[in-house]
Amino acid sequence: MIELKTNEEIERMRVAGNIVARTLDLIGEEIRPGITTEELDEIAERYIRSQGAEPAFLGYHGYPKSICVSIDDEVVHGIPSKERKIRKGQIVSVDVGSFIDGFNGDSARTYAIGEIDSEARKLLEVTKTALEKGISKALNGNRLGDISSAIQKTAEEAGFSVVKDLVGHGIGRKMHEDPQVPNYGVAGHGVLLKTGMVIAIEPMVNAGGFEVRTKPDNWTVVTADGSRSAHFEHTVAITDNGPRIMSL
Ligand code: MF3
Ligand code: CO
Repeated sequence: MIELKTNEEIERMRVAGNIVARTLDLIGEEIRPGITTEELDEIAERYIRSQGAEPAFLGYHGYPKSICVSIDDEVVHGIPSKERKIRKGQIVSVDVGSFIDGFNGDSARTYAIGEIDSEARKLLEVTKTALEKGISKALNGNRLGDISSAIQKTAEEAGFSVVKDLVGHGIGRKMHEDPQVPNYGVAGHGVLLKTGMVIAIEPMVNAGGFEVRTKPDNWTVVTADGSRSAHFEHTVAITDNGPRIMSL
């Protein structure tokens, strides 16, 4: 069942989304060669708690950390570790969730560490554009497939592929609510979008094939072919005035 949010609830979700956005800004300032992914996790957790929120991922289905940090061929759900240092030339996806006043916020960005090669630059640009195109279709009266197909088209026209095994999602009192928001689909098909729906739109785009697998840690999702992957995500409300990005 899709829970529609009232204007008052959307205001409360904006607080959760704003904390996530500022956490990602802070990560963007701190991320550099030599820092460990565990240190990034500590920075994020400290900041989220300083704002009176809780890190929404910590303990979620047993997830052991506050954020996900996924490097190069890692797609999503990389677990921060003291053993893992960021290096020059990498692309690093950071996914952050916060919970405050009964509601969740969820957003992700992929950072370039220093100089990155042209394929990686294009991958980041295309994935960000795919998210923007998807958001632009989050309109009352549209269909979910309008969002999905805009994302897929953007990625595939650039010669990349979208991950199919993982999807975006409704979000609110729970981190994952209905509906599922795939990054592939057919325009004009699927769930009718309505004012009051809030969804996390999150294209995961691979430079190579779409296939992924999960590592033995049972969390880290990597591309099957070892190609690099990027991830950008926003929490977005559908309103009478168009899409409203909560995680800004
Ligand atoms: N943002 C991720 C998602 O939408 C959540 C990370 S999963 C967790 O699936 F278990 F780490 F929380
Ligand atoms: Co999400």
